[in-house]
Amino acid sequence: MARKKVTIVGAGNVGATCAHWIVSKDLADVVLVDVVEGLAQGKALDLAQSAPVMGFDVKLVGSTSYEATADSDVVVITAGVPRRKDPATGKYPSRDELVKTNQGIVGEVTRQVAKYSPNSILVVVSNPLDAMCHVAYHESGFPSERVIGQAGALDTARYKTFIAMELGVSVSDIHGIVLGGHGDTMVPLPRHTSVAGIPVRELMAEDRLQAIIQRTRNGGGEIVGLIGVSAWYAPAAGTVEMVEAILKDQKRVIPSAVLLKGQYGYNDLYIGVPVVIGANGAERIIEMELNDEEKGMLEVSAKAVRDVVSILGY
Ligand code: NAI
Ligand code: 2OP
Repeated sequence: MARKKVTIVGAGNVGATCAHWIVSKDLADVVLVDVVEGLAQGKALDLAQSAPVMGFDVKLVGSTSYEATADSDVVVITAGVPRRKDPATGKYPSRDELVKTNQGIVGEVTRQVAKYSPNSILVVVSNPLDAMCHVAYHESGFPSERVIGQAGALDTARYKTFIAMELGVSVSDIHGIVLGGHGDTMVPLPRHTSVAGIPVRELMAEDRLQAIIQRTRNGGGEIVGLIGVSAWYAPAAGTVEMVEAILKDQKRVIPSAVLLKGQYGYNDLYIGVPVVIGANGAERIIEMELNDEEKGMLEVSAKAVRDVVSILGY
């Protein structure tokens, strides 16, 4: 069986770490692309030289052009400008302020990858995430099932991590889900959170749970505050979880940004909901029964996403 092929555009923190975990898991050959001359080539070569020690057989190539990406099965788009402190003002731009810059970058990248890999599945990571999914969807012309955004995998991972830390139990036993846009309005769902099947509210006081929900919503900002740039290990882990589900046709249920066409009462909007991920991409959207409070929070989040999407001008 021919080996699978994954292109990662953007060889920065998230992109290079995605490459690292994809090859560590022997999932696919990887082509790393970046506009900065030498960056993708150098990181691909460095990672390739770890193969004899780490024991993987997949191949890595780095490039500034797209010819080498031809016929990829999955393309991960991490190209963009992350949240970084402006040296002039000392302030961090919000995710939303990055929208216009990253629209230009993601638009160009999408047109290139769609040309060389017309049958691929796009996994969008660049921020502002939900809006960038709209860009990739419009610019690729792909069916929406083949344009999926990574956010829920990360946000849910952060939520589960905080619960496990609070309760002193294994992260493997935490089950939960975070819906909505990738931003401060995301919607962690405590009613659907359990520890080995035990409802989380039986194990944790409400004020502690609410603190964790708030910390999850601010999960990206907390890391930026500590390091000065945005996170990459957990974002890459969430992305590779999705890539693996596609390559292995796992039918994993992973909250992901997908184009809603009436589900949850929304139309033509990318937002995070539970999705069955397999070889065909976003194969099925699962509609949960939300109560009025949860619907209200999703509405706030959807409005925040729409506000950013409206800047795109599609
Ligand atoms: P980074 O700055 O380390 O890497 C971005 C890379 O994109 C750079 O190497 C840059 O040269 C490259 N790039 C810029 N324009 C390009 C173009 N036209 N073609 C090819 N490459 C280009 O940033 P990092 O930390 O890797 O983040 C990447 C993106 O992912 C950002 O937009 C960030 O906000 C977003 N992000 C999203 C997360 C999510 O959960 N969806 C989580 C973490 C980051
Ligand atoms: C994060 O959540 C900034 O989206 C990035 O870490």
